[in-house]
Amino acid sequence: MNKDVELQRVLSEVRKQMTYTVLSYPERDPNGFKWGDQKYNGNCSGKVPLGFVDKLGAKSVCELFAGSGTLSDVCRDYKIPYCGIDLNPNPVRDNIVAMDILDLEQELPDAFYEADMCFSHPPYPGLNHVKYAGVAWQDTVGGLLEKDIQNMPFEKGMQKVNISTMRAYTALQPGAYMVILVGEIRANGKYFSMFNNLALPGEVFQTYVKLQHNTWSGRQNYSEKTNPRALTGHEMIVVIRKPSGYEIAYVLPKKYVNDIRDSINSATWKDVVMSYAREEKQFTNQQICSDLKDHAKAKSNNNIEAKLRQTCARLAEAGLLNHIAPATWAMAA
Ligand SMILES: C[S@@+](CC[C@H](N)C(=O)[O-])C[C@H]1O[C@@H](n2cnc3c(N)ncnc32)[C@H](O)[C@@H]1O
Repeated sequence: MNKDVELQRVLSEVRKQMTYTVLSYPERDPNGFKWGDQKYNGNCSGKVPLGFVDKLGAKSVCELFAGSGTLSDVCRDYKIPYCGIDLNPNPVRDNIVAMDILDLEQELPDAFYEADMCFSHPPYPGLNHVKYAGVAWQDTVGGLLEKDIQNMPFEKGMQKVNISTMRAYTALQPGAYMVILVGEIRANGKYFSMFNNLALPGEVFQTYVKLQHNTWSGRQNYSEKTNPRALTGHEMIVVIRKPSGYEIAYVLPKKYVNDIRDSINSATWKDVVMSYAREEKQFTNQQICSDLKDHAKAKSNNNIEAKLRQTCARLAEAGLLNHIAPATWAMAA
């Protein structure tokens, strides 16, 4: 098999894939090539970053979380300069530097400042069956288990992923792209979307869905009849672009928790009364009034008694409440 011909074939394959925002690479490596290590947990096909290198016209590439050397191998075969970093103290390729991205005493390699594309495929924090420090590679220097983002609970891990994104972004030159590949995680009966929790500096250029093939996730004891969730069959990719040199504008998702009775801007009186009725099942005008009167929503109204009477009457007309006795209401069955 002629390797140059095979590489051209793969380039045609990724160019076709990159026409749309849904990417699917059932075959991980080109015939006769081994890009990275398919046994390395959380590895991805080199065709994924190659599609972006080619489409965005990158002439020099850097990478956070270089893992098994997938993108290093791709860049070698496509003859473009590459530099990556990974926590593994014994990097798997010469152009990967051992570095804890969370340690601000350690500077990113110079190549990050010259690259025009950075690829980042961070660990999936909270996904317990995947391990890097001490399992995928040996911790020959000590203390790396706690620094491995994979070992952190989801929220803490996402904060660290976001710090790493900001670090790479601030190093990149204006006009450079950053491509971030993240997983959607199901663990301990819950769903955690890395994508929803990403800090996104700069301009969001495009988002992609990457289909997964042969995944472990969810197939364990999955029952299609009883499980209301579908098996996860995709990962998410976001491409951001750095528009200028000094500005560090970013979007950082933040979780807000509020009591609906204190919510002035996003809950109507119908929402508040229905929430109260669902909790209490049956109540009088006096009870609902005394429960709500000290909350912010009630304080924003100068005749709370009349407002509640009116809302309950409308809900009874609509059949959502029953008017069961004078000034007394119950949830409709
Ligand atoms: C999802 S894997 C990347 C796999 C890679 N794309 C491949 O195809 O082989 C995430 C990597 O993040 C590394 N990592 C975890 N914590 C880190 C940290 N604090 N600093 C740098 N790298 C870290 C792990 O060693 C692991 O190799």
